[in-house]
Amino acid sequence: MEKYGLFIAGKWILTEETTPLVNKYTNETAAMLSVAGAKEVTAAVDAAQQALKIPMEPYRRYEVLMKAANLLESDSEKMARALSIEVGKPIKDARGEVKRGIQTLLLSAEQAKRMTGEMVPLAGAPGCGSRIAYTKRVPVGIVCAITPFNFPLNLACHKIGPALAAGNSVLYKPATATSLSAVILCEIFEKAGLPAGYLNLVMGSGSKLGDLLTADERINFYSFTGSAAVGKMLHKNAGLRRVALELGSNSANIVHGDADPVKTGQLCAKYAFTNAGQVCISCQRVYVHQAIYNAFCAAAVSAAKAVVSGDPLADTTELGPMINEKEAIRAEEWIQEAVAAGAKLLTGGKRTHSYLEPTILTNVQADMKVVCNEIFAPVFVIVPYTDINEAIVAVNDSVYGLQAGVFTNSLAIAHLCAEKIEVGGVIINDGATFRTDNMPYGGVKESGIGREGPEYAVREMTEEKLIVLNF
Ligand code: SIN
Repeated sequence: MEKYGLFIAGKWILTEETTPLVNKYTNETAAMLSVAGAKEVTAAVDAAQQALKIPMEPYRRYEVLMKAANLLESDSEKMARALSIEVGKPIKDARGEVKRGIQTLLLSAEQAKRMTGEMVPLAGAPGCGSRIAYTKRVPVGIVCAITPFNFPLNLACHKIGPALAAGNSVLYKPATATSLSAVILCEIFEKAGLPAGYLNLVMGSGSKLGDLLTADERINFYSFTGSAAVGKMLHKNAGLRRVALELGSNSANIVHGDADPVKTGQLCAKYAFTNAGQVCISCQRVYVHQAIYNAFCAAAVSAAKAVVSGDPLADTTELGPMINEKEAIRAEEWIQEAVAAGAKLLTGGKRTHSYLEPTILTNVQADMKVVCNEIFAPVFVIVPYTDINEAIVAVNDSVYGLQAGVFTNSLAIAHLCAEKIEVGGVIINDGATFRTDNMPYGGVKESGIGREGPEYAVREMTEEKLIVLNF
């Protein structure tokens, strides 16, 4: 059995304590991973601190990130298979994630060359004389990247890429369940010529490592994707240190009466079931105008029934297992609870081990868990409405606010929704699930703080330093 080490100060370190990397389809152990303790976390922060003593010039950062993107492209199939095995993600989606990861690294490389500041018009203030001022972006220092299991590669690239582009060093803590892709990514950066200590991989259980990672005051920035509960704790423990938190959602879509019910029904189903619904912007709630409600439901149900589930490594598979059986049981219980309280199951609802059928519910109430909590499973609810204002109120009736989708041909409705919906991004005529890697991505309310997308993440991961010249 292959055993993988931690990556600290440019060296691979095997530890005595290990944890299995489980194949989510077969439930067999695919590899053994080293586990970091206090000693290794301190060594990793030492290395990250040491690395910063020899700053990398922006052009060098660009070269390393470009090289890493090219190496990832060469290793695409190896990475896609690792993702498929460790997440249970259908191989065609895993290949899609690798393509996105390459893009994210390329976008980050470009940002390394665009570290600009701005002139400050001091002369506009009384008594400034001939002083002139400008700002420049300087690295925050050590960035701790804590990544989730659902997009282990691309969301790691979204943290590591901009952090390096901005001139920071990185402490990388991937989700334990999906750390094999993290090992491969670190190997890629090593081959790309990243100087030792600029990227350090610590693996092991998040709850165990969490305290160690927040206790070390030398870490300047935390970039975290995961649950709101953990994000809040991290924010509290980070004190005055900065954070970027992407904390999920129960994302909503509005399908207005002038939209095509068949196309939107099929699209919402696709967006709800991709990656077994384990996507922060997965389609969870759909508010559909009464006029097209029946046609929308029929199209969504036939799309759900057509989903091919099976072995994630098979090219035809569209739905793999959820990350573990416990999570599938939790989602199944939420469905059963909703049905017991009066919800109607249009399709799905059954679970076999960690596979949950694509599920659609109607007749739901706003306080049911399937509606108001983040389900993170292949499940969505459909709610009819007659007045667009009523739909907007329902969308906003959430502790979350990441992205929302609105389908309409009316500019007035589109504009009203764009103005009134309380989220980080409103997507008109596509679903809440739409994301490209160059756009600003992040939420309001309990969906988090800050924006990802290399250009925006570089802003988060740098300080704006002011220089005043008075000659
Ligand atoms: C997420 O689950 O937050 C990431 C979604 C995406 O990158 O498409």
